[in-house]
Amino acid sequence: MSTSVKQLRVDKVSKSKISEVNFENLPFGDVFSDHMFICVFKNGEWQEPRIQPYGPLSISPSAKVFHYGQAVFEGMKAYKDDEGQVWLFRPEENLKRINKSSKRLAIPEFPESYFFDGLTTLLQLDKEWVKPGIGNSLYVRPFVIASEAGIKATPAEEYTFMIICSPAQSYYGGEVRVQIAEHYSRAADGGFGYTKAAGNYAGQFYPTQLAQEEGYQQVIWTDAQSHEYIEEAGTMNVFVRLGNTLVTCPTSDRILDGVTRKSVIALAEAHGIKVEVRPIKVSELVAGAKSGVLKEIFGSGTAAVINPILGFGYKGERYELNVPEKSYAGLLKEELINIQYNRSEDKFGWRYPIA
Ligand code: COI
Repeated sequence: MSTSVKQLRVDKVSKSKISEVNFENLPFGDVFSDHMFICVFKNGEWQEPRIQPYGPLSISPSAKVFHYGQAVFEGMKAYKDDEGQVWLFRPEENLKRINKSSKRLAIPEFPESYFFDGLTTLLQLDKEWVKPGIGNSLYVRPFVIASEAGIKATPAEEYTFMIICSPAQSYYGGEVRVQIAEHYSRAADGGFGYTKAAGNYAGQFYPTQLAQEEGYQQVIWTDAQSHEYIEEAGTMNVFVRLGNTLVTCPTSDRILDGVTRKSVIALAEAHGIKVEVRPIKVSELVAGAKSGVLKEIFGSGTAAVINPILGFGYKGERYELNVPEKSYAGLLKEELINIQYNRSEDKFGWRYPIA
């Protein structure tokens, strides 16, 4: 592949649409900032990266992404501290992961310099869209799609890498209870469950709808072979607290290596909380809910941050948790957001300033 480095071109909006936005009431992912980043791969190389006004794309109906789902994405957040400085959280992890996802879907990897140049310039331009205050952020969505026209089932030769930004508050409004999957699966051995491939999410929609009809908000996915082990919770990695031990399942080719997940593990350990990374049996949750040993379940993810799960359903039974007032979820969420919003020392070097 040619490695000629091309300069970022910036076309700004003539007038910002920010004054039209009600920042007091933001359903997740409905509103987008003024600009977007775009870079096309063709003729064997990434072409000139550009920032331009956010708006529709012109794309052939035969583009492979529509037919074969050759698409991967990332989720990141930008935060503003009380001095007006904008920060990202571990963005190098997202670049690594989108390239890992891309590789699995036969998509060319995206160059680091284009990614960081595009990302930082975009966030500088749209910094007014990052509102200060805990709970406010600008959700940043990098993604890449197979934009080549043609419906032969082969990897595309043309791709479009983009970054769009959406001002965000909470992801899950309200309480979350989950149904533990007994039939459907999210991922299989040798598959691509560890990637952020678009299809991994589409495949969850129907079983999640069924769970919602039964009064749950999300599904806890279990291993495809036996449905005996828990894997992920909706769009999140999952943690359980058994007694005073925090347990999460190991990542694998079925489970996303979540940035929030690994940050939670590091924060918990630094706090002296015993953490076990090991397979978790559904039967442990059921027994723990009955005996009271199961004190908490929570999900972790960029969009959701740390989200307590208050109960679960399994084999037609409903289990409610008696979450302690001083929950690990609450403690770890506070520590995490204090780092993200520059309210505490960044011992791990996770914050990334947008100059
Ligand atoms: C994220 O947490 O950023 C995710 O990717 C979940 C997404 C489906 C909203």
